[in-house]
Amino acid sequence: MNSKNITVKTYSYGKQTIDEDDINAVVDALKSDWMTQGPAIQKFEKALNEKFGSKFASVAANGTACLHLIALGLGWKKNDIVITSPITFLASANCAIYAGADVDFADIDPLSYTIDPNKLEDKLKFYASQNKNVKAVVAVDYAGHPCNWNALKNLKEKYNFQLVNDYCHAPGAEYNNDIQYAAKYADAVNLSFHPVKHITTGEGGAVLTNDETLDKKIKMFRTHGMTKDETILEKNDGPWYYEMHDVGFNYRITDLQCALGISQLSKLDKFVARRREIAKYYDAIFSTNNSFIHPHISENVKHAYHLYPLQIKFDRLKISKKELFAKLKAQRILGQVHYIPVHLQPFYRKKFGFKPGDFPVSEKFYEQEISIPMYPTLTNEDLEYITAAIIETVEKAK
Ligand SMILES: Cc1ncc(COP(=O)(O)O)c(C=O)c1O
Repeated sequence: MNSKNITVKTYSYGKQTIDEDDINAVVDALKSDWMTQGPAIQKFEKALNEKFGSKFASVAANGTACLHLIALGLGWKKNDIVITSPITFLASANCAIYAGADVDFADIDPLSYTIDPNKLEDKLKFYASQNKNVKAVVAVDYAGHPCNWNALKNLKEKYNFQLVNDYCHAPGAEYNNDIQYAAKYADAVNLSFHPVKHITTGEGGAVLTNDETLDKKIKMFRTHGMTKDETILEKNDGPWYYEMHDVGFNYRITDLQCALGISQLSKLDKFVARRREIAKYYDAIFSTNNSFIHPHISENVKHAYHLYPLQIKFDRLKISKKELFAKLKAQRILGQVHYIPVHLQPFYRKKFGFKPGDFPVSEKFYEQEISIPMYPTLTNEDLEYITAAIIETVEKAK
C-alpha cells in the first residue's frame, strides 16, 4: 500500500460527530430560499424547547453571544456583582464585564467540580454585610455534571439574585431524573454548539428561558435592538415598520446552521449514551490505579460527559503535567486542561486584585486535571489504546 494512503489517528479531547443525515440537512437548506432569517431558526428553537422543556428559546451566533444577550436581557449594569465559578470558560465571567458589571467567584465543590453552595453563601453573606447586593450567579454545569441546583435555588430565594445556568457542557444530563431541569431552576440557560460540544452547528448557541419578558428582550438584543412587536411600538407606519428601543447586536445564526442543529439534536440521546459508555470504560480502568481520581457523580445526577476530567496526582509522580502532555502528544493523544482558573487570568488579577490562593480547591483541581479524549466516535480499540498509553506513561513515572 502507498504510505500516503495510511491515515494515522490522532485523539483530541473532543470533536464533532457528523453523518450523512446532517450533510443532507445542510444541503437541503442551501437549496431552499433561506440562508438566514428563514424558517429553520424557529424550527430549531421549537425543537430545543421540546427537548429541554423550556417555554422560550433564542438561537444565536455562539454561546458567548448568548451569555452577552442574557446579561443584557437581565439588565446587568455598572456596580452590579455577578458571581461564577473559577473553573469555567472565560465567557461565563466575561459576559458580566461586557455589561459593565463586576465579577467575583465562589470556589468549586471538590467532588462535583461545580460551584460550592456553601462557599457561594459565604460570599453572599459578605456582600450583604457590606450592604451590597449580588445581582446574579452564573452556575456552570461543568463537564456535564449538574450543579447542586436545589441548594442554588434556596440561596436565590434567600438572597434574591438572578440565576443563570451556563449549560454548555450539560445537554442530556439529568438532575433528579429530569433531563429538562435546566430552565426549571435557572432564569436563563445558555448552550453552545461549538464542534467539541454535544451537538454542533459549527458556531452557534441558544438561550432557554420560561420568562416571556426576558425572551422578548433577548430576541430584540439579538437583532440590533429592533422590534416589530405591535404591543410596544410607539407608532406603526406599515408592514415595513420597525423601531429600535435599545442598542443591540447582530448575533444572528444562519438557517444552514440551524438545519444542522435540528439534525444534530435528534441524535443527542445517542451521543450522550455513547459518552456514558466511554466514561464507564475509563472509570473502570482509572479507579484501579491510585495515581488517578476519576470524575465523581452525585447521587441525584446523570452526567452528560462533555468532558472526562481526569485528575492525576502529580505530586506523587516524577513527571510534571507539561511532561505528561508532551509524552501523550508523542503518542497522538492531545489532552487539554479545563480550565485555568479564571481569577488567575492577568485581566482578572489586574482588574479585581485576585491572586493565587484565593480559590484553593479550584487551583488544586487545575494542577491535577487533564481532559482526555471524549467523543462518541471513539471506538473500543481507541479506548484501549488511549488508556494503555496514559497508564503506562504514569506507571513509568512512579
Ligand atoms: C462553559 C462554557 N461557557 C461558554 C462557552 C462559550 O461558547 P462559544 O464557544 O460557543 O462562544 C463555552 C464554550 O467553550 C463553555 O464551555
